[in-house]
Amino acid sequence: MEPQNEVERLKTVYQQYRYNETIQRQWSGDNPGNRYILNERTRWVHYILKSNKKIPLTPFKILDVGCGSGNVLAGYLQWGACPENLFGIDLIPERIENAKHAFPELHFQVANAEQIEFPTAFFDLVTVFTVFTSILDDQMAAHVAEEIDRVLKPAGAVIWYDFRYNNPRNPHVRGMSRSKIQLLFPRYDLQLKSITLLPPLTRRFGKLTPYLYPLLNTVPFLRTHYLGLLIKPGA
Ligand SMILES: C[S@@+](CC[C@H](N)C(=O)[O-])C[C@H]1O[C@@H](n2cnc3c(N)ncnc32)[C@H](O)[C@@H]1O
Repeated sequence: MEPQNEVERLKTVYQQYRYNETIQRQWSGDNPGNRYILNERTRWVHYILKSNKKIPLTPFKILDVGCGSGNVLAGYLQWGACPENLFGIDLIPERIENAKHAFPELHFQVANAEQIEFPTAFFDLVTVFTVFTSILDDQMAAHVAEEIDRVLKPAGAVIWYDFRYNNPRNPHVRGMSRSKIQLLFPRYDLQLKSITLLPPLTRRFGKLTPYLYPLLNTVPFLRTHYLGLLIKPGA
């Protein structure tokens, strides 16, 4: 598959998601399960950054690759990041428009992450949340990983969050196992943990979410995502 075709495919898929009411309902923040999943992820991101002496985020330049609506990037403000140090790129112009509208103090641009228009070793941290699972073309995935590596400083880190399993109900995504992540970032030290209780199950819990989530989350194979840092070797 040619990279250009993958760009078109991604744009078509995200256009379909946008107008699919079932999908919009599934992802809604009104669902207690979705809120629990998000809060759990936020707590873990904070814990991981703190344990790695990255909090406060004040001195760090951060790039969010495949930033979508910009919410993840804007979340770093609560931990001391400076707006002028926060940059997001995404393929989809409409998503970037929404991000600019919601967070005018941050920097967003439409771009294919196969060619990131920033200097080499410019960023301390690169966030990549549920992006590689969307990319089905191996060549595009390899190019995006190479670009992330290029713009990241030595000893910098990728903050990673993505599915580790295939989704049998969604042919537009593919799971990113630990070995696939390592292939994309061969020299990096992967510090990953599994989180996120199977979302289709969690969304059914309703008011019982605070009781059922912690209980079922103890079963490792029910945790569908990896979260953590991919640490780039130092100079
Ligand atoms: C599932 S969304 C995740 C959005 C955001 N990271 C979040 O977690 O809310 C994946 C995003 O990656 C973007 N994306 C996929 N491939 C990309 C590429 N090659 N360059 C830039 N953005 C890309 C898509 O346009 C989409 O907005």
